[in-house]
Amino acid sequence: MKDNYGRIINYMRISVTDRCNLRCAYCMPDEGIENIGHDHILSFENIERIVKASVDLGIKKFRITGGEPLVRKGIVELVRKISQIDGVEELAMTTNGILLSKYAEDLKKAGLDRVNISLDSLNHTKYNKITRGGDLNEAFAGINAAVNAGLTPVKINVVAMKGFNDNEIIDFVQLTYQHPYEIRFIELMPVGHANAEQYGVITVDEIKEKLPALRPANQNEGVAEIFKYPGAKGTLGFISPLSRHFCGDCNKIRLTADGKLKPCLLSNAEIDLNEVLNQGNDEKLKDVIKDVILNKDEKHHLDEGAAPIERDMNKIGG
Ligand code: GTP
Ligand code: 5AD
Ligand code: SF4
Repeated sequence: MKDNYGRIINYMRISVTDRCNLRCAYCMPDEGIENIGHDHILSFENIERIVKASVDLGIKKFRITGGEPLVRKGIVELVRKISQIDGVEELAMTTNGILLSKYAEDLKKAGLDRVNISLDSLNHTKYNKITRGGDLNEAFAGINAAVNAGLTPVKINVVAMKGFNDNEIIDFVQLTYQHPYEIRFIELMPVGHANAEQYGVITVDEIKEKLPALRPANQNEGVAEIFKYPGAKGTLGFISPLSRHFCGDCNKIRLTADGKLKPCLLSNAEIDLNEVLNQGNDEKLKDVIKDVILNKDEKHHLDEGAAPIERDMNKIGG
């Protein structure tokens, strides 16, 4: 359906847990987090009810996120349940990839179409540092497992951080000559713990300056602007939520693991679905979701001095 600004809203991101097997520096504090209690995490049954209501409102694309979605018990079963709902045209997942060696084939069989994988460094020591303990070999094993299982195209999300990975841009570009990945550089957004982060923002334009002779790939879809080097197997995507926001084309709403709908990633507004879920009236549930879509913000207001986002990213899902 359309929102009040005429945008077609057809994409829902569903965070299924705030827990994670990594602890990325910009995503959560060093000392760890207080997790959402089990009692407050949406059940699979309630997630299904929300998906069914959303499909009726014209949502066709769903993305499962976290925290790390693969640490949620029964995740393959949830994928199967969602993929079988009539009207779900695309089902994707954003993951750190660590558990994909174990789950990729089962996820594909359960109906997952593809994965986007977070990978902020190609250097073992730096990867271990930014993830506070992650093993780059495991992440790459996960990427290979995703390719072998057909969870393609595989997109790799690189959050660009000044003083951390700005000297690795060329190394990421090199990967596109060897593999058909879409490598996406993302501007670091002031969400939750990223505010306290020691690394600075690199804008998409600053990255492009380092990459002469880039050619548009003429396959823009979603939030990334896509380029390619002649002869490369893969592509390069640029996501600029800060320097050139894409709110005018925004097509999504977000569901948090504790049952709140977020009409915009970069706003603190949240609408709690728990009450209407508990009432057991799915027509009313649909009305509440419809209202959230209609009243979605026109754009984020960070460039006009709006307060940074309070929730840490692990509690939103990107
Ligand atoms: P595709 O379906 O493959 O296009 O994936 P996606 O870009 O929608 O999802 P992904 O989880 O890979 O997100 C990549 C990055 O873009 C993350 O840092 C997200 O937070 C950011 N992002 C995605 N959608 C939006 C959006 O609507 N607004 C903002 N500000 N950032 C977004
Ligand atoms: N800014 C930009 N991207 C972020 N991500 C997590 N936190 C931020 C942030 N503050 C990315 C992750 C993941 C995706 C869902 O969002 O790297 O790939
Ligand atoms: Fe949509 Fe908000 Fe992202 Fe803008 S900042 S594209 S309105 S989610």
